[in-house]
Amino acid sequence: AIARVIGRRVWDSRARPTVEADVVLAGGAQGRAIAPAGASTGSGEAVDLRDGGPEFGGLDVSRAVAGVNDEIAEGLHGLDATDQGAVDAALRDLDGTPDKSRLGGNALIAVSMASAKAAAAAREQPLWACLAGSSGKDLRLPLPEIQLFGGGAHAGHRIDLQDIMVTAIGARDYVEALDWTAEVYAAAGALLDARGQLFGLADEGGYWPAFDSNEAALGAAVESIERAGLTPGQDMALSLDIAASQFGTHGRYRLAADGRSLDSDGLGELLEDWLRRYPIVSIEDPFAEDDPEGFRRFTAAVGQRVQIVGDDFLVTDARRIREAAAKSAANAVLIKPNQAGTLSEAREALDAARESGFAAIVSARSGESEDVTVTHLAVGWQVPQLKVGSFARGERTAKWNEGIRIAEALGGRGELHAIEDLGAVPI
Ligand code: PGA
Ligand code: ZN
Repeated sequence: AIARVIGRRVWDSRARPTVEADVVLAGGAQGRAIAPAGASTGSGEAVDLRDGGPEFGGLDVSRAVAGVNDEIAEGLHGLDATDQGAVDAALRDLDGTPDKSRLGGNALIAVSMASAKAAAAAREQPLWACLAGSSGKDLRLPLPEIQLFGGGAHAGHRIDLQDIMVTAIGARDYVEALDWTAEVYAAAGALLDARGQLFGLADEGGYWPAFDSNEAALGAAVESIERAGLTPGQDMALSLDIAASQFGTHGRYRLAADGRSLDSDGLGELLEDWLRRYPIVSIEDPFAEDDPEGFRRFTAAVGQRVQIVGDDFLVTDARRIREAAAKSAANAVLIKPNQAGTLSEAREALDAARESGFAAIVSARSGESEDVTVTHLAVGWQVPQLKVGSFARGERTAKWNEGIRIAEALGGRGELHAIEDLGAVPI
């Protein structure tokens, strides 16, 4: 049973305050977790509780931490941590708001994840094994989606596209997928350096390139794959997060890097043109969260051959996923636990995706920490893909490296999920 819940303020990878929670059980087992934070958030997400005020840009979390230490600690006292559903229901009830704004999504997700880890510790199991239950040995590792270049809200809007990622669709296993990514990441750095386009690192550790257009990023990504000695589209493919809510609303999209505005159809045509000319297997948030019709038309046009992922659009919400599935507006979903606010609700979103025939990707946020829970969720829930940012910076490598350890514990190099488990990716 839960004996103590402790909240404290720690720091995230953008040097902003965030919430850490410890859950201690009566038997002494304990779990710890840190809330991540987004920068390009969907309007339907669970809301973080921030102090406002002059310090740290108004982003301090002293009220959220206090809520963990008093109300949440008291409310969870004596609950069975191995009953995640009961713990999360209690968290939801304590908060009492539909968007978790009273105690804060940041407080709730930290406690929810810490409780899951305490339950695993009580069973003397790693979290992934505890979540996977009896299905033990033949577990697979997720295919990584790894950021090469950052843009949008994560890189001063130098380009409009937010994530230009690579995914090792031809890799034999998880370890090889990372090996290849390391070569491509190094090649991309050398390429930009040689062109004088290296501008530092974006929020998720991808290069912050001085590209003159959005399409330049696609060309540079393909060239990086080639320079690494790999075949684009066969070994390594591109995956994009357009994060279109950041530059479009009411069906108008302003591509500042290209100096033009497009309507929803125009943006769809541009993306289809890119799909013809570049080895792209996945596109996230191709349209804004207020443009479900754009998603629907795009899915009808290319959803048979490309993974179309809802992030801001679906915000890890089971109801929204079912609605989108009913309209065929996407074929995959990003699962970000803090968008939902509790692990149980993130799991419900994943179940809704599976029932709807949607593919899924477990994802970290742009503001992260040393917490590696998402890697455990991807393995424990057997989600075929994982997105945690780039291949540089400790808060990112912590999560990729945890996958190597899990693969080893499973006795190998991490067998990947079948490519058919991804959303409509051509083979
Ligand atoms: P965020 O970005 O964490 O800033 O929301 C990540 C994403 O859009 O996938
Ligand atoms: Zn996104």
